[in-house]
Amino acid sequence: MLITGGAGFIGANFVNYTIENHSEYEICVLDSLTYAGSKSRLDRVLHRIDFVHGDICDAEIVGPLVESADLVVNFAAESHVDNSLDDSYPFVRTNIIGTYTLLEAMRRHGGRFHHISTDEVFGDLPLETTEKFTESTPYNPSSPYSASKASSDMLVRAWARSFGVAATLSNCANNYGPFQHVEKFVPRQITNLIGGRRPKVYGTGLNVREWTHVDDHNAAVHAILSRGEIGESYLIGSGNELSNRQVVELVLDLMGFAPDAYDHVPDRPGHDLRYANDTTKIMTELEWVPRYVDFRDGLAETIHWYRANEWWWQPQKMAAEARYQARGQ
Ligand code: NAD
Ligand code: DAU
Repeated sequence: MLITGGAGFIGANFVNYTIENHSEYEICVLDSLTYAGSKSRLDRVLHRIDFVHGDICDAEIVGPLVESADLVVNFAAESHVDNSLDDSYPFVRTNIIGTYTLLEAMRRHGGRFHHISTDEVFGDLPLETTEKFTESTPYNPSSPYSASKASSDMLVRAWARSFGVAATLSNCANNYGPFQHVEKFVPRQITNLIGGRRPKVYGTGLNVREWTHVDDHNAAVHAILSRGEIGESYLIGSGNELSNRQVVELVLDLMGFAPDAYDHVPDRPGHDLRYANDTTKIMTELEWVPRYVDFRDGLAETIHWYRANEWWWQPQKMAAEARYQARGQ
């Protein structure tokens, strides 16, 4: 199995999960180690995998790796919406050209391709409704990040239909868990509090996200790899919808602070209001269910992990906060 972006947050958890639960796979990771990639996420398993430091846009590197794999899972991406608002070029390059490069290699060499996508490709839902995204919701992305992910999904579908690439696709909701970069919402607030800073909430904080534990996401990807139908897309989520304010208040409570001990900062331009995935298809057709149904428990576990693993996140923290300071956030 070739795992691209396997030194990133979800990809590295996927490698660790696969080694623990699916020992039948031989694993090769391809990762260019951007600011978001870190080989130390794979410390425990480096001796059990091949690691190639390289770029998914580089056809010379990608070709032979795809040729020697039966299965490719593509996690490699630029993943942070705020960064895509500052400079969208790396998003267009990695998410679109990188996926294209992988698909061209798949077309030449054959094998199975699973593309990791996001619910952000569908745009957003109104607040105060129970409406959810389904696999047939039209794409309507809002940010340069989600537009580049939507483009990559379209390429996957086109290469499947026109060239017979054996592809599947999944669109997951917001992930949380160990080894997430401190630029993201949940780890930013936890590590702020550990470091004596106040959590920062964009705008009103009423925007809603559906929080899914990274291990549940990765178990769902394995369900698709073993039982999913070629050519199909699957939505993944937990049902745990919370406003950003509710999440921050929960973090403050679990860490022993007053519920109002946070700041409101300027809003993200074009900020999507609400995401929520209807997971009926993956639950009924592939018999996948999330294990982390209680978000409070998963969050408490995650806080514990960040408290115990300061060695891992502390080196990223100053640079991430400097980027936020430059945006006034
Ligand atoms: P991440 O930013 O933590 O990791 C991305 C990884 O890709 C890094 O290791 C980075 O070095 C690598 N990478 C970037 N550009 C590369 C290139 N050109 N060549 C090779 N490697 C490259 O991202 P993540 O949060 O782990 O997200 C992984 C995937 O899951 C992405 O496709 C993202 O869109 C999707 N996703 C993320 C979430 C979430 O909440 N984080 C939710 C749903 C879907
Ligand atoms: O829904 C899936 C997507 O989830 C993935 O495709 C993306 O890769 C991933 O980054 C995530 O995107 P979001 O933009 O939803 O996640 P982020 O962690 O950046 O922000 C979550 C919410 O919290 C969002 O409404 C913005 C808000 N926010 C974020 C930060 C960093 C704050 O209020 N304060 C903050 O400091």
